[in-house]
Order: sequence, then structure tokens, then C-alpha cells
Amino acid sequence: MNNAELYEKNNTLQKRDALQCLQEYEKKIKWKNFDTIIDIGCGDGGVTTEVLKKFIPSNYKKVIGVDISEKMVQFANEHHGDKRTVFRVMDVENTLPKDFRETFDHAFSFYTLHWIRDQERALSNIYELLTDGGDCLLIFLGHMPVFDIFRQLSRCSKWHPWLKNVDRFISPYHHSQDPEKDVRRTMAKIGYRDIDVQCKRMLCTYKTPEECKKAVAAVNPFKVPKELEDEFLEDYMDIVVDMRFVDEVNNNINHSVHVSAGYTLIVAFARK
Ligand SMILES: C[S@@+](CC[C@H](N)C(=O)[O-])C[C@H]1O[C@@H](n2cnc3c(N)ncnc32)[C@H](O)[C@@H]1O
Repeated sequence: MNNAELYEKNNTLQKRDALQCLQEYEKKIKWKNFDTIIDIGCGDGGVTTEVLKKFIPSNYKKVIGVDISEKMVQFANEHHGDKRTVFRVMDVENTLPKDFRETFDHAFSFYTLHWIRDQERALSNIYELLTDGGDCLLIFLGHMPVFDIFRQLSRCSKWHPWLKNVDRFISPYHHSQDPEKDVRRTMAKIGYRDIDVQCKRMLCTYKTPEECKKAVAAVNPFKVPKELEDEFLEDYMDIVVDMRFVDEVNNNINHSVHVSAGYTLIVAFARK
């Protein structure tokens, strides 16, 4: 999950979902003049600059992308940094930098909060980052077959040594009966207002199994030794086949093999 070059080339799904949600929610965001914006879990910085910044009025003051990974932050600064766009290391589940408290008019987070164990801490921190009246748009995974596949692999003796902590990387909402209620309740407890949480049914489709494999490699959080990585991904894809996510179209005109699976995306919008 630290490899910015790999992530940059294999994050079509994340970019599509960020764009779709921003289009849907852009009217709710109260832009002012000279706004300060934070993107939490910015990764390689591609979504921050190529997707999010397209929605930000041009007279913004500053966009700050933050990520727990130093490598991601370094890559983002090198490839996407400019005078008004900077990337910094920050763990949203930990103590916030002092200069960040009550600083941001808008907080965004795309495809990150499902990695966070202590949801209340992260959501409290986001609240703390916002100025009074500031808003946040948070997009993260609920149920996703990838998590079931990781769990299956962790039961296999070959992979168990590196996947012992598999639960650490499964969305806290993967098995939730009512993720909307769970998120809304936590946000209300913290003090957020105008809370709007939606759980959306989505479909991810990869044109080839290879494309799917690369997308998984780009977000694989487990430290499998380099020489075993290909084998790990092959075993992952075997489970994808067993779970019937692979469709083969074979007719007179064409032959194609694509991978598709349903998942749920949680979209939370609220104000301080
Ligand atoms: C799948 S990437 C998403 C990147 C980008 N937002 C996008 O949509 O393409 C998730 C990112 O969250 C970061 N992350 C994970 N835990 C974090 C934490 N506790 N605080 C900040 N960032 C975190 C990871 O380092 C990774 O770069």
C-alpha cells in the first residue's frame, strides 16, 4: 500500500468513485473565498489534484493532502505539489499537528477510513480539523469481497505468517447490518450536524484478470516477501474464480474474460 508508482497506475476504481461522489455532493459543499482544504489519506496525490481540485473554486487559499505513509507524501509532493498544494505526513487516528486544529473549511477523505480501527478517534479528529461551519465529505468501503478473499488467504498455512493480522485490514463496516446507522451514530455523538450518510451499492469491473490483479497489488496491505508476491496474487485470483467473479464471453465476434464484483461504498457528508 506504500507503492505510489503502482497505485498511481491502478486506481481507476478509486478515481471513478471520488468523481461520482463529488459530482453528487458538490452543491452541498459551502465554498467561500480563500478556503483551506484537507484531503485525508491522499495517497499518491492523484485524486487530490486530478479529481478533487477540479471542484474547488480557483481562489482557494491552500490544499493540504495528508497521509500516514512518508513514501506516498514524498511522491505526492514531487508530482503534485505547488505553491498552494502541499502534502504532509499525518495519522488521522493519532494526535493532530497543532497548526491543523480548527484550520480547514473543508475536509475530504477518499478510500481511506475503512483502514482505520478507531473510527470514533478518526472522526473526532476530522471534526477537530474543521473550522466552525466547515464541512466534510468522506468516502470509504463497507462490504467488499476483497476482504473475504484476504480472510480466506489468511487461513491458508502458506500465507498465514504474513496475514495473521488480517482483521486489522478489514473494513469495520464489512459485516455491519446497518453501516449508515453506525456511522451516523458515531458522527452525532461527536457533535457533527446536518449528517447525511448513504451506503451505495456499486460494481467494480476489470476488463481482464490481469487488471484486477494489479489493482489488488496496488492496495495489498500485507508484507508478503517480494519473491512470493506473484504467487500470492495468483492464489488471490484463484479465489476470485472460485467465487464466480470471472465472466468469460466467447462468441463468434469476440472472446473476453472480465472480472466484476459488487461492493458497498459509504458516503458521509456533515458539518461542524
Ligand atoms: C487506497 S489509498 C487512497 C488514496 C487516495 N485518497 C485515493 O482515493 O486514490 C488509502 C491511503 O490511506 C492512507 N492511510 C491509511 N491509514 C491512514 C491513517 N491512519 N492516516 C492517514 N492516512 C492513512 C494509506 O497510506 C493510503 O495512502
